[in-house]
Amino acid sequence: MPLLRTTRSLRTAVLAGLLLSGTVLVPAASASATPLYKNSHAPVSSRVKDLMARMTLDDKIGQMTQGERGSATPAQAAAARLGSILSGGGSVPSPNTPAGWADMIDAYQKAVTSTGLGIPIVYGSDAVHGHNNVYGATVFPHNIGLGAANDPQLVERIGAVTAEETAATGVKWAFAPCLCVARDDRWGRTYESFGEIPRNAVENSVVIEGLQGRDLGDRTSVMATAKHFIGDGGTTGGVDQGNTQISLDELRKIHLPPFRAAVDHGVGSVMISFNSWNGVKDHGNKFLITDLLKGELGFTGYVVSDWNGIDQIDGQTGFTAAEVKRAVNAGIDMVMVPNDYQKFIDTLRAEVLNGDVPMSRIDDANRRILTKKFELGLFDHPYTDRSLQKDFGSAAHHALARQAARESQVLLKNDGVLPLAKKNNKIFVAGKNANDMGNQAGGWTLTWQGQSGERVIPGTTILDGIKAGAGKGTGVTYDRAGNGIDSSYQVAVAVVGETPYAEGQGDRPNGLGLDAEDLALIGKLKASGVPLVVVTVSGRPLDIAAQLPSFNGLVAAWLPGSEGAGVADVLYGDYNPTGKLNFTWPKSSSQEPINAGDGKQGLFPYGYGLSYRRR
Ligand code: GLC
Repeated sequence: MPLLRTTRSLRTAVLAGLLLSGTVLVPAASASATPLYKNSHAPVSSRVKDLMARMTLDDKIGQMTQGERGSATPAQAAAARLGSILSGGGSVPSPNTPAGWADMIDAYQKAVTSTGLGIPIVYGSDAVHGHNNVYGATVFPHNIGLGAANDPQLVERIGAVTAEETAATGVKWAFAPCLCVARDDRWGRTYESFGEIPRNAVENSVVIEGLQGRDLGDRTSVMATAKHFIGDGGTTGGVDQGNTQISLDELRKIHLPPFRAAVDHGVGSVMISFNSWNGVKDHGNKFLITDLLKGELGFTGYVVSDWNGIDQIDGQTGFTAAEVKRAVNAGIDMVMVPNDYQKFIDTLRAEVLNGDVPMSRIDDANRRILTKKFELGLFDHPYTDRSLQKDFGSAAHHALARQAARESQVLLKNDGVLPLAKKNNKIFVAGKNANDMGNQAGGWTLTWQGQSGERVIPGTTILDGIKAGAGKGTGVTYDRAGNGIDSSYQVAVAVVGETPYAEGQGDRPNGLGLDAEDLALIGKLKASGVPLVVVTVSGRPLDIAAQLPSFNGLVAAWLPGSEGAGVADVLYGDYNPTGKLNFTWPKSSSQEPINAGDGKQGLFPYGYGLSYRRR
């Protein structure tokens, strides 16, 4: 039989065999045709394999490197072949608008996709309560309020809206949700926690489904980040980035379940925590990252370090070759090295060439990173879908934020003073947090630390809500310090609590009491004899035991975000409060840490929350 026929019949037999075996056939790429990795119809695994076969060591090390926008221009990102760029808290383009963000990120994509293999970056930002770095974004209650709402379906919807507004700006990677289980309320990141027991974070990890959508490649999807692995909420004394001194059993019982749930939700990335576990920094702990997270939990996405997190492994400032080797070999796939990214690249290259970091580790990291980039559709659609910008900060999104604010309110005391009468009432409103969008939004709002300010972001203050809800014959007076209060008023509402903070700057090792301004205000209002409703706007339970007897009503509002009117909805009874404490409320900070089941008697127990009697 002529060779040709033999060859053809052999090829036919092989093709038949392949088809029968279910192997997907993709036309072999001829020299002039598009490389397989650029074929959007090819399986992701094939695209990854084809791309990696074309990559140099520097290509691969670049993919494992994340720089901050302030230290890497698009040209520099392309030259260094960076895999990712991030915005640290408050690191924003000018103008800080969806179009400004899209222009910035598209410029990075244009630079990196027009050089070398054209691998797009994935841009990351902390969209932790809405796309909070961007002016005009819908800002939702922080996790502490969402946990009190006990409504995972609501939280999933919040994830979806957050993803839509985030994707609208070109950001396809959200460094959220924080799944920390905050055990000591003195910790500055307590408000980023859904609650003090794992169930809160487990149930609300469904926000990942909202963020990532049905398919990571959907235009409105962004990749989520389960953070911070592991034990950030369990440090001794609630010291941020401190030492979590607990047994492996307790780590598994308290802090691991939310990450197991996140993996079950298909979370695309996990961020490593700054804290130490029994004296060893998580960023260098191979047992935690490789054995526990990737092995036992079966996490197949990629692991990113926290901000300069690898620098902390040896306890000295800056990073060394030993730390780079330790972190990468521990299982970190992408390193957030905001500024010294070229030094990191050079150091890791040397560690690979000297054999201290095996090529198999580099390839595993790249396989994980590139798989997510292909799944996100970044190779096929690297530029921002600006059609999504029409709904950015929309009325519908704000309505969801208001519903979330309503459901997160916890009514802790009510002698009948609540709900407020809407008609024929005379209401005196006071306090530093009554008319301050910045204070009610809290940290991670426009800037890293957040800031006070009446109109820092669009939305409604609590005072706006009280004024808008007033009916016929009702007057509302506001004075921050309570000046003008007298017995002609039928009720006084004092909105007190904390001003914004983030991370360690929010640690309160010296007590959780109200500040002098709030205490003076409460004293003044009480002296007037007018029934007093206190609303706490704070990132944690506060020490108000001594003042509680002088309150006729008490509502924990947490950090309600854009729509303070949702708090007023509860004060007027337009929404019958359903919120329940997701943190045991201490009698004093000397009880900390105090948590459900530890036998301590707080001021209000975990799960406590009143409603109005049915009218
Ligand atoms: C911060 C936080 C982390 C955040 C990261 C990027 O230090 O620990 O939650 O995602 O840096 O802003």
